[in-house]
Amino acid sequence: MSGTRTLTMIKPDAVAAGHIGAILHQINEAGFKIVAMKYTKLSKEKAGEFYEVHKERPFYGELVDFMSSGPIVAAILEKSNAVEDFRKLIGATNPADAAPGTIRAKFAKNIGENAIHGSDSDENAMIEGSFHFGGVEIFK
Ligand code: RTP
Ligand code: MG
Repeated sequence: MSGTRTLTMIKPDAVAAGHIGAILHQINEAGFKIVAMKYTKLSKEKAGEFYEVHKERPFYGELVDFMSSGPIVAAILEKSNAVEDFRKLIGATNPADAAPGTIRAKFAKNIGENAIHGSDSDENAMIEGSFHFGGVEIFK
């Protein structure tokens, strides 16, 4: 079954804490199919580019430093209603506000080091998917 797509990153805090396996398990259990995946590390420049939309925000410098501080897992996920359903699965940006059982409620440390990224629109999911993956790295 095909569906829409979203882009996720398991962020450096969750990777360092050893949560890759548990998070991928929860993503699979929620019905998302992994169509592309890599273990990688963002340079400061690439992290800045990824989050360029937040360039004027006070937390931008911290965000870029954090996202380039260690390896991440990037993946494209497929499911019907992928973007919205994945945002529900990960929970609110601040783990203090994240619903119980969500990935951020379980694994995030604070609003900055919050374990996981999820695209916020179908358009951004496409842009972010192409940021991390070439066509030959994506499997249906
Ligand atoms: P993401 O893009 O990573 O999925 O997170 P999000 O949509 O839930 O939140 P967004 O507003 O896009 O913020 C992007 C990331 O910036 C960091 N942040 N820090 N210190 C702060 O007040 C603050 N606010 C946001 C978080 O890592 C957030 O996920
Ligand atoms: Mg966002």
